[in-house]
Amino acid sequence: MTSPTLYITRLLPQPVLDAIPRHYHMVAEPTDRSPTAEELRRGFTEADAVICTLTDRIDASLLAQTTRLKIIANYAVGHNNIDLPAASQHGIIVTNTPDVLTDSTADLTWALLLAVSRRVVEGDAWLRTGTWPGWTPTQLLGADVSGKTLGIIGMGRIGQAVAQRACGFRMSVLYTGRHRVPVPSGLTWEWKPLDEVLANSDFLSLHVPLTETTRHLIGRRELTLIKPTAYLINTSRGPVIDEAALVSALEARTIAGAGLDVYEQEPVVPAGLRSLPNVVLLPHLGSATLETRVRMGLISLDNIAAVLEGRSARNRVN
Ligand code: DGY
Repeated sequence: MTSPTLYITRLLPQPVLDAIPRHYHMVAEPTDRSPTAEELRRGFTEADAVICTLTDRIDASLLAQTTRLKIIANYAVGHNNIDLPAASQHGIIVTNTPDVLTDSTADLTWALLLAVSRRVVEGDAWLRTGTWPGWTPTQLLGADVSGKTLGIIGMGRIGQAVAQRACGFRMSVLYTGRHRVPVPSGLTWEWKPLDEVLANSDFLSLHVPLTETTRHLIGRRELTLIKPTAYLINTSRGPVIDEAALVSALEARTIAGAGLDVYEQEPVVPAGLRSLPNVVLLPHLGSATLETRVRMGLISLDNIAAVLEGRSARNRVN
């Protein structure tokens, strides 16, 4: 194939666009907004390769309209936005972007954990009103992080990177997941069933992929197991938590607070969450550093080149 056609559903950082091989033909210039249904249909029909994002829903009916598409490079590690069985049925390879976003997502998880437990956002908002009267011994008291217990739900790459960072805070780590993981020397990570992790942790962090098994993994029952002094952090996928149940738990203070980067119906963030002071809310920033977003694009282009040249793609998920 001399001049393959590429469709990119969203504007990507410039270094990624600069790295697109010059002989590729583009279906259209990528724009910084969601593609319309017609733009998606055209792109998927005309392209040999697509780079799409986690906000694009790639379903069976869209995939059925493809004629020459060989690879969908999802610009994310999660791939719950794509109907994988349908892609396989049409002979289309799907790839993702693991590893390159592990550190940035783990770092952001810690930003949320520290921000919510030390009331960073409340403090910042207060000072901006110009009404801070000066230091007092009882202002905005938060919770200690050092020496506490961190519970990780889903001990894959990102879960492990979050757990490694707990070492500097002298924290004990409990985790649950399908597999026991090798524990780095000098660290103590203990596998426990989900309910025990929920009941015994001071901070809980979710790192599971979104599947039919993990949808609402944290629901009303699970929230009642969490300590009233504990904080729940989610940088995985919104539907892993039953958001309505979480709002009730936060309002009733049966848990201390939450740090959230992801939501059930993005970009909708329920009013119940937005009105609570004991929640820190971020707009899905897990992988949002320039370096990471460039690496995600370069890995996507590598996978595309491999498939178009008849080699196997490094990050194939179907
Ligand atoms: C992913 O890659 O799945 C992240 O959610 C993107 O930030």
